[in-house]
Amino acid sequence: MTDALTPEALLDMAADAATRAYVPYSSFRVGAVVVDEDGNTYCGANVENAAFPATICAEANAITTAVAAGVRRIDTVAVDCLDGDLCTPCGNCRQIMREFGVGIVILRNADGTAGPVTLEDLLPMSFGPDALH
Ligand code: THU
Repeated sequence: MTDALTPEALLDMAADAATRAYVPYSSFRVGAVVVDEDGNTYCGANVENAAFPATICAEANAITTAVAAGVRRIDTVAVDCLDGDLCTPCGNCRQIMREFGVGIVILRNADGTAGPVTLEDLLPMSFGPDALH
């Protein structure tokens, strides 16, 4: 990670992405930023749907955007929300992170500082692609 991509800078990028969330049902705006092995970044926001289960989380949006651009290994994902104190990734998004080798998830603490945690902490004893190879 280069100096420009500090945890706080990544959270600010996630917060900026969250301003573009489409959330007519929850009004809960979430943004996420993926950092790949080369330090490239990919942003996503949550996109809701009148058929609620069709909603796309911010993390899934950012990760699938990165993968569609050719990324296969992801080091870090930063997540921020604008309408609540702490947004921890949902279970489905933790599993999507697992697929692409995410190591660190950066969340924003209540005091505004960055709080990095490991994906292993968020998703212990996980099932991943290595199990099928
Ligand atoms: N949401 C995310 O985007 N990421 C998460 O990890 C948790 C939840 C979104 C989905 C929905 O649009 C809104 O937050 C409320 O659940």
